[in-house]
Formats: sequence, structure tokens, C-alpha cells
Amino acid sequence: MNKLLEMRNITKWYGDHLANDRVDFDLAAGEVHALVGENGAGKTTLMKILYGMERATSGEIAIRGEVVRIHSPADAIRHGIGMVHQHFMLFPPFTVAENVVAGREPSRQGWFDRRRAEADVRDLCRRYRLELDPRRRVADCPVGIRQRVEIAKVLYRGADIIVLDEPTAVLTPLEVRDLLATVRHLAEQGKGIVIITHKLHEVMEVADRVTAMRQGRVTGRLLARDTNVEELSRLMVGRELASVVRPPARPGPVVLAADSLFLLGEGGKPKLNHVSLAVHRGEIVGIAGVSGNGQSELLRALTGDLPVDGGRISLLGRDITHLSVRERRLAGMAYIPEDRQHTGSAGVESVRDNAILGHHRRPEFQRCGWLRGRRIDREVESWVRRFGVRTPSLQAPAHSLSGGNLQKLVFARELAAGAPLLIAAEPTRGVDVGAMEFIHSELVKYRNEGGAVLLVSSDLNEVLALSDRILVMYDGAFTGELSPEEADEERVSLLMVGGVRSG
Ligand SMILES: Nc1ncnc2c1ncn2[C@@H]1O[C@H](COP(=O)(O)OP(=O)(O)O)[C@@H](O)[C@H]1O
Ligand SMILES: [Mg+2]
Repeated sequence: MNKLLEMRNITKWYGDHLANDRVDFDLAAGEVHALVGENGAGKTTLMKILYGMERATSGEIAIRGEVVRIHSPADAIRHGIGMVHQHFMLFPPFTVAENVVAGREPSRQGWFDRRRAEADVRDLCRRYRLELDPRRRVADCPVGIRQRVEIAKVLYRGADIIVLDEPTAVLTPLEVRDLLATVRHLAEQGKGIVIITHKLHEVMEVADRVTAMRQGRVTGRLLARDTNVEELSRLMVGRELASVVRPPARPGPVVLAADSLFLLGEGGKPKLNHVSLAVHRGEIVGIAGVSGNGQSELLRALTGDLPVDGGRISLLGRDITHLSVRERRLAGMAYIPEDRQHTGSAGVESVRDNAILGHHRRPEFQRCGWLRGRRIDREVESWVRRFGVRTPSLQAPAHSLSGGNLQKLVFARELAAGAPLLIAAEPTRGVDVGAMEFIHSELVKYRNEGGAVLLVSSDLNEVLALSDRILVMYDGAFTGELSPEEADEERVSLLMVGGVRSG
């Protein structure tokens, strides 16, 4: 086999944390090699080492059979390595062409040669079947297109080893399909592609080979055609995963009702355009949508973080439209915020204090105004154990937890409140498959016991797997309501982009 890349025996310590443990990884021209693993398995670390953003503690890298030293992304680019990160690194005010050629601008008599840049980008796009308008401003491009710009940029620099770090996490299903087609096409053109993902059906669709990692080690190296989703998740998690079992919903009375919520945005364009919804006892109502279409505003309005310009919100029949966040909590609303780094937790405070944040007034946690320390410790310890939160101790600052572990902690806290309503925003973003399975089953259990859940997630599979009813949000309004039976990916995707496919 024609080896483009070989990483041999790569070990990486971060302080006393072993992020990569004697990892071997290779890539041939013309192949798509998926790198899978739970959050924190060490995938990004391995690829950052390849791209010169991190130095391996030991091990070596060979490109086309020759051992090389890569100390910076510039070195990596020289060796034909390109990486598309999870967070894009584009200049939004500039055009697609300007972004693609940035750092290698063609010039004419010392001036930026825009015509040539645009022509180059057009050629490149034709060759690699990337649909892009070189003159469009990046700021006006949706996420899927921005990602394509990143890929074009990597290609423009001549990369033949292309690393995509969780490229589908931010995309709608239709965009995912386009991306996977692009990836296949690039491989056919002789590029070697590494795709990091934990969505296993994507792996099965696009990859030739798969390397699975767990806790820094390689746990499996397989041909995609010889494996399946079950085997891969076992290699990632170290055990079998159960799929969510959801008995039919038996909805009871209305718990949360929003009536014609209206919120004006900048420039007079509504952020929420007369949004109404109801969530009943014993049901999970899922809101699907590409992020940025009003979901955050809706959540903030419902939870009391953002006053609305019109409409009414009631909880258990009581008007809560003008209540504060705290008052709403006391009235029976539990909330897992989208942004747990900032609104869901207090980073410098301890894990223990975060675990009771907003709940320290619960009677079991205080007596005569005094916090009951031991009681709290015991309770928090039990959550940490039950939810498998990885933390050095209860006294460690919350910011020392990984995103996934912090999420588990916030989830445990909100669920333990036993409120009649749980609003869950992106409840599994950034958590690994094992934790995702657990969170999903806990949500369903809560709903089976009569809890009302409003679930907002940009992960469509999650919405489809959990919801008893699905509302699709686009441009500040609901574009449709579907039952789980009617809601196939295609239908929901179309509603998610307002019914028409944007390019
Ligand atoms: N800069 C860093 N400093 C300390 N620890 C880190 C750093 N980057 C990653 N880690 C730790 O290394 C482990 C692997 O992380 P990462 O490679 O990002 O995992 P993955 O991409 O598979 O989710 C995690 O436990 C993470 O917390
Ligand atoms: Mg990663």
C-alpha cells in the first residue's frame, strides 16, 4: 500500500494525563480513514501532533516513508498536511476567494490579483466538486459553506493529507450528505482523508478504514466493510450500548404553555415571531433546527433570562411571564442550559458547589439558613458516582472538568431537583456515547414518571430518538410540527432550512 503517512508509537502526556498512549496510525493515498472514539479519547490530540500544534512526548511521524519533524502548522503545510478544525478560522468580512488564498495571495506587480485569485478558486472548486461562489462574503455564508471554504483553503495550499475534526457536528443532515460526498470525491482524486467523528453511521457511509480509540489507546483497527456500528461502539465505549427504549407517551395536562411569544431583534427583525407551544406531563417535545434560528432566544425567554416584547408564558397554569429566573425555578422549572461553561456553572467554584448551584435552598440542603455540608457531600458524591463524572475530587474547581463531565454534573443537578418541567438544551453536546446513552435513558425515565421535557438540540438524531412531538424552528418561528413517525431526516431537514434548500 502506498503510505502517505505513518505515525508510530505516539505518546503524549499533558502534565500527568496520558492523552495518547503508544498510538500507531497510518493513511494511504486515496483512502478515507475514520478516527473514532468517545470524547476525551485523544483523537484531536493525535491530529494536533500531526499538524504541529502539539509536540508528542515520544514517537515518530513519517510522510511518504521519510521521517519528518513537524514543529508548527507551517511545517505541516509544507509536508502537505491540512487540517479543518472544529472551529473555523476564517475572516468573515472577506470573500470566499480572499479567504481561500489568504497567506498565499497571487499578486501582480506587487498588488493582490483578485481576478486570478477568483479564477484559481473557481478552478479548484471545479476540480474537487466544491460548490462555492468565490465572490460571496464569508459572513453571508451558512456554516456548511464556510466549512467548504476551509476545505478549499487546505486544498489550495496543496494538501494531500487532509484532517477533518468532527466536521459534521455543526451541519444539517443535507449538509452532511454533501460533505460526505465531497470527502469521497477527494479520496477518489488521490487525497488521504482523516475524518474524526463519533457518529458511527457516517463512518459506515464514508470510511474505508477505521481506527477506534479509548482513553488514549487504539482499541481497534478495522476495514469499514468488515465492521458495523455495534462493534465500533463497543470498541469506543468498552461495552455494549443499549438503544433508547421509549414506551408510547401518555401525555397528561399542560405543564408549560407559551402563547405567541414575540421578541424584536436588531434592525426590527423579529427574533421570535409569535411562537406558541405546549408541553404536557409525560411527554418530550423536541425542537429541531439549525442553531441560530431563535432556539436560544426562545429558551432564554422561557427561562426568564430574556424579557419578551409580547406574548405569555405559563407554568402549571400560573402566569410566569414576568417572573425572574429564580422565581421560575421555584415555580417548578429545571433547566440545563446550552452554554454550561458560562450560564450553567461557575468555573472557579468547586465541583461540589456547582453541583448544588441554584438548589442550595432545597430543604434537604439547609436547616435554619445553614447549609448542611455533610448531607450535600453525600448527595453530590452519589450523583458523581451514578453519572460517572470524572473529577479528581469534589473540591476541584469546575473548570478543571472536561465539557462532557461538566455537562453530566449539570444534568444530574437539574434532574435531581425533581421539578415538573425540565428544559434541556443540547443535553448531550460534547459528551461521549456512554454518557449520551445514560442521559437519554434518564430523560425518558423522567418522562415516563410524568415529567414534562422540552428538548432543544441541533443533533437531529437526538431529537428523533427522544421526542414524542417534534417542532422545527426556522427564522424565529416554527415551520412545522411532526410526530416521530412522520419525521424522517429528509422532511425535518427541509423544514430546518425553511422548506427550500439553500446553497
Ligand atoms: N492542552 C491540554 N492540556 C491538558 N489536557 C488536555 C489538553 N488537550 C487535551 N487534553 C486532555 O487530553 C485528553 C484527550 O483530549 P482530546 O484529544 O481533545 O480528545 P478527543 O478529541 O478524542 O475528544 C482529554 O482528557 C483532554 O482533557
Ligand atoms: Mg476532539
